[in-house]
Amino acid sequence: MSEKEVKSLEEIFEARIARDEKIEPKEWMPEKYRKTHIRQISQHAHSEVVGMLPEGNWITRAPSLRRKVALLAKIQDEGGHGLYLYSAAETLGISRDELIEQLHSGEAKYSSIFNYPAVTWADMGTVGWLVDGAAIMNQVALMGTSYGPYARAMVRICKEESFHQRQGYEILLTLCNGTPEQKEMAQDSINRWWWPSLMMFGPRDADSPNTEQSVKWKLKRKTNDELRQAFVDQTVPQANILGLTIPDSKLKWNEERKHYDFGDIDWNEFWQVVKGHGPCNKQRIDARVKAHKDGKWVRDAAMAFAEKQENKEVKLAI
Ligand code: 3HC
Repeated sequence: MSEKEVKSLEEIFEARIARDEKIEPKEWMPEKYRKTHIRQISQHAHSEVVGMLPEGNWITRAPSLRRKVALLAKIQDEGGHGLYLYSAAETLGISRDELIEQLHSGEAKYSSIFNYPAVTWADMGTVGWLVDGAAIMNQVALMGTSYGPYARAMVRICKEESFHQRQGYEILLTLCNGTPEQKEMAQDSINRWWWPSLMMFGPRDADSPNTEQSVKWKLKRKTNDELRQAFVDQTVPQANILGLTIPDSKLKWNEERKHYDFGDIDWNEFWQVVKGHGPCNKQRIDARVKAHKDGKWVRDAAMAFAEKQENKEVKLAI
């Protein structure tokens, strides 16, 4: 294709983005747009699937059948979100096997938050309330993203995330209205998960190599810092209702800004965890690699069945 032809395709593409049109899989897109979406959507999918691990540990330890059922439903949802997002990534011309290999080899990232251990039952509440709450903040913005399959996947995912966040908040409300020991367990949990939850939104905008271009392509409708600030503003009043203290001595309502001012994030901790040196990075990837290996027979059986079906349909069609 000549340079002139590419230039005109790029101009048509930019005009479509400017008109807020959705870009669909079979339509022309800049190679960098395609690659950026494979990067972000696949890492989003990896996060959903790895995110099942800290919670999976608590299914057999849930304090009641009702809590167990809600946790099971939430974890199953997360697996479904992962499959949805892997399918959205596949529309950009990458195979599921390549995506899984990128996760297992460490080439692809997943959300830093899932490299922290869930050590008490209160963590199941905090993960639902803070982690899914942060995910919702990010994902609601992604419902307006320019890539069609990604935007549409977000609609269903956001609906289910709302249940995740509410069931988490209800766990904490129960603990905070319980015995002093239960309330203390909830406070300990928020002390451990608050700052890693703020890190979920990514580095500061000034330190983000991807945000500027992603905003231009309307992949990101809000920046990392904008979403982080909205999350803090929304979450602090909820913590007040629980009677829990946010572990940030600099947290203070700024009447002029109409936002909460908050303390400095430990970006060294963030990048250490992103680079694989968090408390649970190795454990998480080992678990994913083992699950994929142990599940090979299921994939082989499903493929064999599909092939047999296909042959039958071909025979019938002849
Ligand atoms: N954890 C791990 N890596 C992170 C990260 C985090 N919290 N935040 C940023 N990074 C990585 C980025 O992937 C990027 O590395 P890469 O170029 O190799 O991919 C680098 O740090 C620089 O960050 P940028 O801000 O420039 O990168 P992005 O523009 O991609 O922004 C993001 C990061 C805000 C996480 C964006 O990718 C995004 O919105 N992703 C979709 C949402 C998502 O993945 N959420 C994860 C949680 S899903 C979840 O919680 C499930 C729920 O059900 C519990």
